[in-house]
Amino acid sequence: LASTEVDIGSIQTGESVTVKWRGKPVVIRNRTAEEVSAAKDAPLSELKDPIARNGNLPADAPATDANRAATGKENWFVMVNVCTHLGCIPLGQQGEYSGWFCPCHGSVYDTAGRIRKGPAPENMAIPVYSFLSDTKIKIG
Ligand code: FES
Repeated sequence: LASTEVDIGSIQTGESVTVKWRGKPVVIRNRTAEEVSAAKDAPLSELKDPIARNGNLPADAPATDANRAATGKENWFVMVNVCTHLGCIPLGQQGEYSGWFCPCHGSVYDTAGRIRKGPAPENMAIPVYSFLSDTKIKIG
């Protein structure tokens, strides 16, 4: 399927669901206020990859939290959950930044899926998606 619709109405704060989209796992997370502020507080100068990698934005958009999260709905976070090193699936809410941790070679991502440590070269990708309503998104 080129696109997939997901009902997000039952995803509570601090919870995630993973759906398959074009054969890849896409995580949809309802981030906590702490996760959002941790991501917002990270200086861009500290980021290993300063580019947002967000399919909804220009290719050179900077990797601020606002450019990684859903526009106007900063708690919602949608990401292709594939490590940019060699394609393993990082585990959520793990690692030094309480974001994602890749068990294959130890890449550490923050709560906005941005690479912070380890061999992965890029932030995990944000797919094209849109909100169809407050409780439904379309990926792709
Ligand atoms: Fe994730 Fe190597 S595949 S760190």
